[in-house]
Amino acid sequence: MKKIFLNLGRQPITNSFLNKIDKKTTKKEFFYNLSIGFDKKNFLVSIMNYVNPKKMFNSKYAHRASSSKTMRKSFQQIAFKLKKRFKPKKCLEIGSNDGVFIKNFNKKQIIAIEPCANLAKITRLEGFTTYSEFWSKQLAKKIVKLNCGIDLIYSANTISHIPNFKEVFDAVLIGLSKNGVFVFEDPYIGSVIQNNSYDQFYDEHAHLFSLLSISKLLSNTNLKIFDAEITQTHGGSIRFYICRKNSKFRETKSMKLLRFKEIQQGLNKFKTYKNFSNRVKGSKQNLLNLLKKLKKNDKKIISYGATYKSTTIFNYCNIGTDFIDYVIDTTPNKQGKFTPGKHIPITSPEKGLNNSVDYAFLGAWNFKREIELKEKNFLRRGGKFITHVPSVRII
Ligand code: TYD
Repeated sequence: MKKIFLNLGRQPITNSFLNKIDKKTTKKEFFYNLSIGFDKKNFLVSIMNYVNPKKMFNSKYAHRASSSKTMRKSFQQIAFKLKKRFKPKKCLEIGSNDGVFIKNFNKKQIIAIEPCANLAKITRLEGFTTYSEFWSKQLAKKIVKLNCGIDLIYSANTISHIPNFKEVFDAVLIGLSKNGVFVFEDPYIGSVIQNNSYDQFYDEHAHLFSLLSISKLLSNTNLKIFDAEITQTHGGSIRFYICRKNSKFRETKSMKLLRFKEIQQGLNKFKTYKNFSNRVKGSKQNLLNLLKKLKKNDKKIISYGATYKSTTIFNYCNIGTDFIDYVIDTTPNKQGKFTPGKHIPITSPEKGLNNSVDYAFLGAWNFKREIELKEKNFLRRGGKFITHVPSVRII
């Protein structure tokens, strides 16, 4: 049974950027209550009310995984590492987005699964076998019939989006070859607790995993976890290595150490999450105080990156155009639109990051280094970034 530890209030669908903000459009906007719970039985952190995946992952899906240099490089590196370690013949990616990972493989070698039709079209046009469907037992059966078993099933920032992970694991069992591996990575609850990055909670993140929770979830399946590692992606992610229970892989030492660290951090205790929840309330107050102070001094503040994360922050803290003039983002299909819920206009960095801007809130704080390098001119002329991780401050 899940027990609530955090309530982030009324939230919109993070991916539903609005084309216009007239009465008719805003009246139709969908909101739900975002509260987060912890399940003592399996140590899993999940949102209390899952949003129907069909509402989120559709042909209008805005996020492009390859829009950041950091991400392109990171997917290239993990593809290289997996090829070297497991030497897979047949591969598959669950949630291939615009193909940022699969591009590092031979077109004949890898299969893409992407339910968002607009994204599936991109990889299909590039010649990759692409199924525009949700990953399911039925799909796994179809694929295994046409091919043999899959040696490497990879997934990034997708499994945490799926409320029904039992279906995911069952489908993986159908799809994997005898010594095949299932590698997946998602934002890490341990980093969220450590960095106070409560903005990792939004409609798409049905769950935020730890090694402890995944180990519990797999304990009554025919899969086992044999390795796990923490990465810096998205401000702290966890990568799991999973195989069939009777496969040749043995638990690594580093995984045992991580399990020990998680117990020390208290990721198996409700109290840890309750304490985190109190820090989140403090973070909201501190951010509002800072923005009010800057506004009192007539400073112009914008936000950098129309991220899903910042949708959670702006709606939870009730931050709209009274504080943030507009948001800048490099993604062409976000530009000219308005942020979900708070309706802040979005424009391109070329137009928006001009000399009139005093402060830019880092909505894309997970790319802080990349952004600081790119925006040297802004910093040189006295522009400053604001962040809320790990605590609210002007950088
Ligand atoms: P992302 O990190 O995927 O966050 P979320 O999952 O919370 O949406 O999104 C990063 C966004 O920031 C994406 O829309 C692209 C944008 N962005 C810029 O506009 N400029 C940049 O330099 C970088 C790195 C990202």
